[in-house]
Amino acid sequence: MQEIKFYSGENIPLELHKVRIVQKLHLVPIERRLEALYEGGFNTFRLSTKDVFLDMLTDSGTNAMSDNQLAAMMQGDDAYAGSQSFYRLEKAVQDVLGKKYLLPVHQGRAAENIIALAYVKKGSLVPMNYHFTTAMAHITDKGGQIVELLYDEAYVINSDHPFKGNMNIEKLEEVIKRHGASNIPFIRMEASTNLIGGQPFSVQNLRDVRSLADKYGIRIVLDCSLLGENAYLVLKREEEFKNSDMGTILKTMTGLADLCYFSARKISSSRGGGMCTDRLEIMKELEALVPLYEGFLTYGGISIREIEAMAVGLYETLDETMISQSPEFIKYLVGELDKKGIPVIKPAGVLGVHVDAMQVCAHIPQTEYPAGALAAALFLVSGVRGMERGSISNQRDEEGNETYADMELLRLAVPRRVFTLSQIKYVEDRLTWLYDNRELIGGLKFVYEPPVLRFFMGGLEPTSDWPQKLMAKFKADFGESL
Ligand code: F0G
Repeated sequence: MQEIKFYSGENIPLELHKVRIVQKLHLVPIERRLEALYEGGFNTFRLSTKDVFLDMLTDSGTNAMSDNQLAAMMQGDDAYAGSQSFYRLEKAVQDVLGKKYLLPVHQGRAAENIIALAYVKKGSLVPMNYHFTTAMAHITDKGGQIVELLYDEAYVINSDHPFKGNMNIEKLEEVIKRHGASNIPFIRMEASTNLIGGQPFSVQNLRDVRSLADKYGIRIVLDCSLLGENAYLVLKREEEFKNSDMGTILKTMTGLADLCYFSARKISSSRGGGMCTDRLEIMKELEALVPLYEGFLTYGGISIREIEAMAVGLYETLDETMISQSPEFIKYLVGELDKKGIPVIKPAGVLGVHVDAMQVCAHIPQTEYPAGALAAALFLVSGVRGMERGSISNQRDEEGNETYADMELLRLAVPRRVFTLSQIKYVEDRLTWLYDNRELIGGLKFVYEPPVLRFFMGGLEPTSDWPQKLMAKFKADFGESL
């Protein structure tokens, strides 16, 4: 993609789309934001959007849709079986992801459930570059375990390593030898590794994983939910692909996996999900589970209109001006925060900006959830809703003990083509103020802890009256401003 230079010399991510449908936003007063936090158990998942100004919780199902996606939705062929919409989606999967067979499911975790049901049993071990919450929950739910095999560099916050999502090949071979290939149903590779800051792996790394998988006869399952962005960063960062194109890179990556699955809420800016493979026996192993858990094989629990949007959205991932929008905004915000000394994961990844709460809230022990506290504090002072990606998002071990996360991150998602640059600047401004007043942020403790995926609905409370003190300082500095 041709870079657009500004005469001023400034480096600004220029939007290559225009806004045609808008949604009105409200910035409610800080007093109301404080009430909302107490009502929502200091858990940003439990906030109501009526209290949220900029919703940076996730990019899942929140990416802006294109005019062509909306137009395609109108030609949905509503049929229980044999819908033409399904065949259009199947063709899109073949064209973009290069896989012959498609099994639709209602969203990404439904694929994780079905794959785990088909392949994981008690004693199974699934090596992966890094876990994703729902992928891990489905594997442990079936009696399996996971092992994360990143290189040490992946955990370095202030890094310039281009591929922190790479699988540690040496450790992978050790694990296979130690546990035995027959106990390893598949190796899971996650594109744009979500929980370490949306960090990609290189094509070369995936090739190396493939060589080991072939040597020991193990399947590779590729989580493609953020594959478009991973491919974009390969184009930008991997020498071999610098003159390549999105389509070639996407197919090169999927071609190295036996089975691909995705959350369409992410990859194609729609709803739904899917699993795809070239291997008939894999398709057959999974096929029977789809009507049982999801829906008939030509809709998989997804609305037909969304299937149409998914097909168009998949083709749109080939468009560099579309796929680059979120990563370029993220790069901009990471750069601005970094200039001010605010610790953020570097290099800039995809999906969102990841603030290092371990450093920002160095005075809050991990037992009091610094990332959750930072997420609550930012909402209080800005109405910006981010997501805790730290120990609250971890699950307890088999004995019920807390497992503390490797990183305590506040994730500020930047869904595709949703925010304007002035909104991004507002986030930068409020985060800077909060950073300057970080000593006022205090800890959190659980008052309600669900047994599975506790971060979604868990309830917490502050360990002191720190939110009131933070609000008082905000009002002293900003007066009547919201
Ligand atoms: N894999 C990855 C890499 C994901 O980021 C997600 C969802 C899933 C699988 C599960 O897909 O939500 O459609 O069931 N990530 C969302 C997020 C929830 O906010 O990062 P799903």
